[in-house]
Amino acid sequence: MERPIRRIAINTGGGDAPGLNAVIRSIVLSSLGRGWEVVGIRKGYEGLLDTSKIIQLDRESVRGITHLGGTILGTTNRGDPFHYPVKMPDGTQTLTDRSDEVIQNFNRLRIDALIAIGGDGSMRIAHAFCQKGLPVIGVPKTIDNDLEGTVITFGFDTAVTVATEALDRLHSTAEAHERVFVVEVMGRYAGWIALNSGVSATADVILIPEIPFDIDVVCEKILDREARGRHFAIVVVAEGAKPKGGEMVTRGPKEADREVRLGGISEHVAAEIQARTGKETRTVVLGHLQRGGQPTTFDRLVALRFGAAAVRLAAQRTFSVMVALDPPRVRAIPLTAAISRMKNVPLDCDTVLSARDLGISFGDQIADE
Ligand code: F6P
Repeated sequence: MERPIRRIAINTGGGDAPGLNAVIRSIVLSSLGRGWEVVGIRKGYEGLLDTSKIIQLDRESVRGITHLGGTILGTTNRGDPFHYPVKMPDGTQTLTDRSDEVIQNFNRLRIDALIAIGGDGSMRIAHAFCQKGLPVIGVPKTIDNDLEGTVITFGFDTAVTVATEALDRLHSTAEAHERVFVVEVMGRYAGWIALNSGVSATADVILIPEIPFDIDVVCEKILDREARGRHFAIVVVAEGAKPKGGEMVTRGPKEADREVRLGGISEHVAAEIQARTGKETRTVVLGHLQRGGQPTTFDRLVALRFGAAAVRLAAQRTFSVMVALDPPRVRAIPLTAAISRMKNVPLDCDTVLSARDLGISFGDQIADE
């Protein structure tokens, strides 16, 4: 018979997202209630490579953190143990596989299960460890909402709320100065944040990676508003949006141990709009404001439910799975399903169709109003 769970570990990986602390608290309290011990692994898998970074988690350590942004465990979007960066004597960097060290330390510390909270990158690492025999359960987080198999990831609602508030504020100044505002939001290769905030804040144009845009169509929409006496416009652009036949705009060179950084498309779009329409145009890049601060009620609740569900799965010894929101349930899906593909905005989804009905342009075709 398999030995019962006595000690579980938690880590948080990838970019932070509001709600991480709520999941940690939920896992800790649900586990302590079952008489288990809980340890926190600092900074993704760092704590399993350098075990001085392992901390004991008790009731005291998770008191009053449900509403706090960030993560008490720290996080990183570098340091994948399967492709770990090592500095060579000549100053160059190479990637090495340190996954066996992680497994040795995991066993040495007599950890019975790992709950890994993260986005697609973290779920891929979790899956790779499961294939090497580690008992792992994934919890999906990302403001980008691009994880397959779950209707929503926590962090997304907060990011959309921040973006919507910013767009609401920009409306009044745009109207006062008769300007165009191009507002860049995060989301990587998915347009969820741009779409949901843009529709909610009644943007005029929404540019998302899933719909390559034609700048002439964008300008036509702005000039059409002008002709109807609406002398300002709000354009929401996802950081991963690209023109038809063009590329995404990236920041800096690609580093070996992390994903390429996106950003800067708003400057290009704004310059083109100003040049073609003659309208004074300004840019606002919301950046990490979308990731910081308190999680919304929705994100807190999902995070708390995910944490408790992950512990219930551990108690049943159900591993190699990720908890997923499938309203009204939280269920377990195989990690393989979660990492099978990226969840992009379907072009025929109700929100896209509704936006088009509302006269919002995606820069691909002339919108009827
Ligand atoms: O995945 C979350 C996210 O905020 C993306 O939307 C964004 O492209 C990226 O992380 C930014 O990463 P970093 O915090 O490393 O700049």
